[in-house]
Amino acid sequence: MDLLPRPLRYRATSGTAVLADGMVIAADEAAWPVACLLASELEASTGWRVGRGGPDAQSPNGIVRLRVVGRGQVPDFPGPEREAYRLSVRPGATGSAGATGSAGATGSPGVIEVTAPSLAGAFYGTRTLRQLLPPDLLRSAPVNARAEVRVQGVEVEDRPRFGWRGVGLDVARHFFPKDFLLRLVDLASLHKLNLLHLHLTDDQGWRFQVNAYPRLTEVGAWRRQSPAGHHREGRKDGTPHGGFYTQADLAEVVAYARQRHMAVLPEVDMPGHMQAAIASYPELGNTGERLEVGTDWGVSEHVLNLGPTAMRFCQEVLGELMDVFPGPYVHVGGDECPTAEWQSSAEARQLCARVGLAGPHQLQGWFTAQMAEVLAANGRRLVGWDEIFDAGAPTGSVIMAWERERAWRVGTQAAHAGHDVVMVPEPWCYFDWAYAEDPREPLAIRAGISVEQAYGLEPVPKDLEAPYEQRVLGTQGQLWTEYVPTPRHAEYMYFPRLCALAEVAWSGREREWLSFQSRLEAHLARLDALGVNYRPLAGPTPGQARTWGRGLHPGLHDGPHAPHPGWGPGAY
Ligand code: ACM
Repeated sequence: MDLLPRPLRYRATSGTAVLADGMVIAADEAAWPVACLLASELEASTGWRVGRGGPDAQSPNGIVRLRVVGRGQVPDFPGPEREAYRLSVRPGATGSAGATGSAGATGSPGVIEVTAPSLAGAFYGTRTLRQLLPPDLLRSAPVNARAEVRVQGVEVEDRPRFGWRGVGLDVARHFFPKDFLLRLVDLASLHKLNLLHLHLTDDQGWRFQVNAYPRLTEVGAWRRQSPAGHHREGRKDGTPHGGFYTQADLAEVVAYARQRHMAVLPEVDMPGHMQAAIASYPELGNTGERLEVGTDWGVSEHVLNLGPTAMRFCQEVLGELMDVFPGPYVHVGGDECPTAEWQSSAEARQLCARVGLAGPHQLQGWFTAQMAEVLAANGRRLVGWDEIFDAGAPTGSVIMAWERERAWRVGTQAAHAGHDVVMVPEPWCYFDWAYAEDPREPLAIRAGISVEQAYGLEPVPKDLEAPYEQRVLGTQGQLWTEYVPTPRHAEYMYFPRLCALAEVAWSGREREWLSFQSRLEAHLARLDALGVNYRPLAGPTPGQARTWGRGLHPGLHDGPHAPHPGWGPGAY
């Protein structure tokens, strides 16, 4: 059946159910939104009329029945998880669908039934159903005139291992059009991921429209140029780059994602990674210097001053952010914040004295606590990178453990300290790394995370004792985009590693690479139907290989197999 991610349990049964033109999706009130979504998807890909009916609707042309039943009302459901579902494909009464040519011609077409304790579970049941149908039915319009589709009998019982199953996209280093965010939601939710994390701001670009601070997008959304090739080469492309999302754009992404049971986690990275904001409003900086929006990769020394103007700025930005993003979590970054400017700032030292800190090295912890209060006053929880833990993270904050030397230690210690953690350790989850140390791979920040490596992640730290395991909320695949300038290239970097991550996050602890690999090979036909620019398992196609090579960045490669200096350990 080649289901991906692998369900908790499934059993093929004999016979097939039939769906045909005129089929009906029967749903109770609670399941109605998912019924409408599935109906529109099937109408588009088959060209059939797909009816929507009440819970007892019948049709000789096939029935998909969706039921949301309150928690506890599903006998021996395999756990109370909200996102669980049961999917049953049952043939007609004769043991095989009687239809020839048309499902309704003879006998019963059978029934496909999804039962779930929540609308989210019903949605995931329909994602599995889409994988049981021919890959062509993932297309946007019919390419084969099909009289009917036969669906192999099966009983599936499924629920996720983790509640946090994310995909991260850095839209600051390169701007990605809104349409790509919508497509990413479609692709990720087909893999049962439930969270889109948008890294909205960084030194090199500010992408979130803030009404109180219009210069953030008038100035901060645009940079003069970017590195050409690897940033260590010191070359620039001389080409302006930028863009931003209006609040309406992002509200649309949030609503679109919600229909597909994904939350959107916004990140405004502070108090470091703020050069684009300081370029827009120099009074936010420490030196008074007029800066430009960052044109190089790496970590800028220029960070927020934490005086009253900057603190009001952060509060107002978070206020507008919370208006657009209704979810329970807000990410305030907190990674890689150099303290050099604070060390040499009289105002920073006075602030330390006033609030009782031993010195500027304690300012980050103080700042994060202030932001946590702003969020808590609005019923939200703060999420931050693992640096906020070592700085003394506020109670109740969620730690995203990322840094390769630090992630497992911080994940364990943060769980012990009562924090929820999301494990995103670089060598498994950072999909901006090349797939392999192979000269055919396009330029990347460094090598290399194969699909098998991504599949091998166990998100619970080895030395985390069982009682703390529930502190590990889940994991996500991260795409930083210094070297990822286009949606097509982003798809290359995500897929198929994101398929592996999805199985890590959804399926149980036991993993079998060979099983995954064979299901993935079949799954690629689905990605083909969806037009995904994935990396083939054997390596990049000629069109994908070395897309940053000769021509676009002359002089970068000096021969067909010259290894790029960006590959290998220590490549940052
Ligand atoms: C990070 O990769 N700086 C969170």
